Amino acid sequence: MQQPSGTALVVGASSGIGKAIAEQLLASGWTVGVTSRKLENLQDLVAKNGDRAVPKAIDIDDPEGARLGLKALAEHLGGVDLWVLNAGTGILNRHFDWAPERQTIATNVMGFAAMTDVAVHHAIARGDGRIVGISSVAKKRGHPFTASYSGSKAFVSLYLDGVRQYLRRAAPKVSVTEVAPGYIDTPLQQFDEAFWVVSAETAAKQVIAAALARRKHAYVPRRWAIIAALLSLMPRG
Ligand SMILES: NC(=O)c1ccc[n+]([C@@H]2O[C@H](COP(=O)([O-])OP(=O)(O)OC[C@H]3O[C@@H](n4cnc5c(N)ncnc54)[C@H](OP(=O)(O)O)[C@@H]3O)[C@@H](O)[C@H]2O)c1
Repeated sequence: MQQPSGTALVVGASSGIGKAIAEQLLASGWTVGVTSRKLENLQDLVAKNGDRAVPKAIDIDDPEGARLGLKALAEHLGGVDLWVLNAGTGILNRHFDWAPERQTIATNVMGFAAMTDVAVHHAIARGDGRIVGISSVAKKRGHPFTASYSGSKAFVSLYLDGVRQYLRRAAPKVSVTEVAPGYIDTPLQQFDEAFWVVSAETAAKQVIAAALARRKHAYVPRRWAIIAALLSLMPRG
């Protein structure tokens, strides 16, 4: 499948899109650092792939601890060619309770920035690399029950835009790919009205292809670009 192989680090590799990305990279001969809050959630990947799947417990809700953990894992791997910043949360919050809003912002905003910090400085030191961040089509528009999720993904996308511009001068060979998935069949997807749902495996294949082609932006699956354009035009309410 994918060419060439190298060393990747997938943050949030225990389920859904991240796990499928790790599995496909491992199947193509990559060595992959894989993270989760719990080591036991990574046992399956390690059992199937031996020492080419290198696990580490990292909680991005602890941004300073996560930064140290990611740096240590990148060093242990001997350098990272491909960073997949995938870990994230999405909570259906029908009553606008504070706890889910706070959790989503902590993980998807502060946690995401902490992951990005490590990937950026690592890539600058190497002078090359690919950084992929997982946003969402939700970035295009607020939703009454997931206000913090849409807001956090708008942050992810705009943050990556700035990071890409920073790296253009600091390390021109490093690429930054912003991926906006539509509805993907994972434990995170909770909408009854979901449509055009694809498997995590299909999504992972397209994420890896976009990263290897060093695309700046990718909707996954691609047809979600149409919905994204419509979402910007549709009236509220
Ligand atoms: N599924 C969709 O329809 C969809 C659509 C658009 C965007 N996305 C985005 O795609 C990404 C992956 O989501 P998914 O659908 O594959 O969900 P998922 O199956 O729930 O996977 C989430 C991953 O993130 C990790 N994670 C969550 N909170 C974490 C934390 N505080 N610290 C470290 N790791 C954490 C989880 O690991 P542990 O729980 O093992 O720690 C897991 O590996 C997310 O950024 C999500 O917003 C998903």
